[in-house]
Amino acid sequence: MTEQHDVVDIIRTKRDRGELTDGQIDWVIDAYTRGVVADEQMSALAMAILLNGMTRPEIARWTAAMIASGERMDFAALSRPTSDKHSTGGVGDKITLPLAPLVAVFDVAVPQLSGRGLGHTGGTLDKLESVPGWRADLTNAEMLAQLEDVGAVICAAGAGLAPADKKLYALRDVTGTVEAIPLIASSIMSKKIAEGTGSLVLDVKVGSGAFMKSREDATELARTMVDLGTDAGVDTVALITDMSVPLGLTAGNALEVRESVEVLSGGGPADVVDLTVALADEMTRAAGKDVGTDELRAALADGRAMDVWRRMISAQGGDPDAELPTARETETITADADGHLAELDAMSVGVAAWRLGAGRARKEDPVQAGAGVELHARPGDRVTAGQPLMTLHTDTPERFERARQALEGGWRITREAPPSSPIVLDRITAEER
Ligand code: URA
Repeated sequence: MTEQHDVVDIIRTKRDRGELTDGQIDWVIDAYTRGVVADEQMSALAMAILLNGMTRPEIARWTAAMIASGERMDFAALSRPTSDKHSTGGVGDKITLPLAPLVAVFDVAVPQLSGRGLGHTGGTLDKLESVPGWRADLTNAEMLAQLEDVGAVICAAGAGLAPADKKLYALRDVTGTVEAIPLIASSIMSKKIAEGTGSLVLDVKVGSGAFMKSREDATELARTMVDLGTDAGVDTVALITDMSVPLGLTAGNALEVRESVEVLSGGGPADVVDLTVALADEMTRAAGKDVGTDELRAALADGRAMDVWRRMISAQGGDPDAELPTARETETITADADGHLAELDAMSVGVAAWRLGAGRARKEDPVQAGAGVELHARPGDRVTAGQPLMTLHTDTPERFERARQALEGGWRITREAPPSSPIVLDRITAEER
């Protein structure tokens, strides 16, 4: 077959800060998916994009080409509107677990296609796989049936959805090109648009434990994704949220499921509850339901969200009453002074949880269900010398030392209480452009 374009011309255009044409973008994504463009050529192009950026029309076309590389799902047959949430990832981010059942209480279907974790951020599927019997892989027909019956599904994205992104994301991961904003935005949005959700709420994290370390970068990523979603007919809004400290009191798979169940029982840490309610408020509004935050909090407190959680777990083979796995070994880290916990660095806690066995370095690695970090204090709390600050959990005690090293310098105790900071920092909508 004669190819329409020369990949070296395309790489040179981006290297020299030029703008790619629609035809070049369509061809390069398709040819890469077919294996005609080699990994080393796509790596060079990804690096040129990271260094020189893309215009808004280029990003939109790149996203459309990745969507066109696979199937598109369609939820039009459902009897209720759909709304989905995507988080750019952080430490202790278990929000999907209480959020999906909570939103489904209000007759909004939540099709949550999730992934496994890589590096210091955990994956939603890894967390749920700590529930005995629960399975992540559903057919499209099973997913639709569960959305109609239960209203919420959290499952693995099928291989047919944006296959170009699967290949490109794996390549970016090993070529230092994950951090390019046009590539992150098009990667996330191609999957969300192909999934066919009616509305989408983006949780764009900023801080040490997030991809985006600065407010400026997080805002640029949020705006780019809101524009892509809006242009594709998906009602899209983004919240910029704080990821300088871990979310809640746990980082690790079964530990986070346990904390999510506490939230679904009307308890749980305030930051996890507040963010769950803020995102549920956006999702229900985007789906045309006038619920409000008081009613959302009531549905967590009175067991309605818990009922949906139990049905959602059972529908995927899980036992909501089963004991969750615990790690074989624990070690405690204690406060070395009296005062207030002033800082607790999200990245340090995320790396420690990862080193304890909660995360993986390569995508084929197994994870330990019980491993992770359990916090006993959060920034702002009063602490006394000798009081436990955190407990490390693992099945393999030789991991403790490297986890402790990750935490060195990751927390600070001061005499004065630190100022408190909100979890939701900004809201980005299409109208603001
Ligand atoms: N998550 C994705 O799906 N893609 C990226 O590029 C980064 C995070």
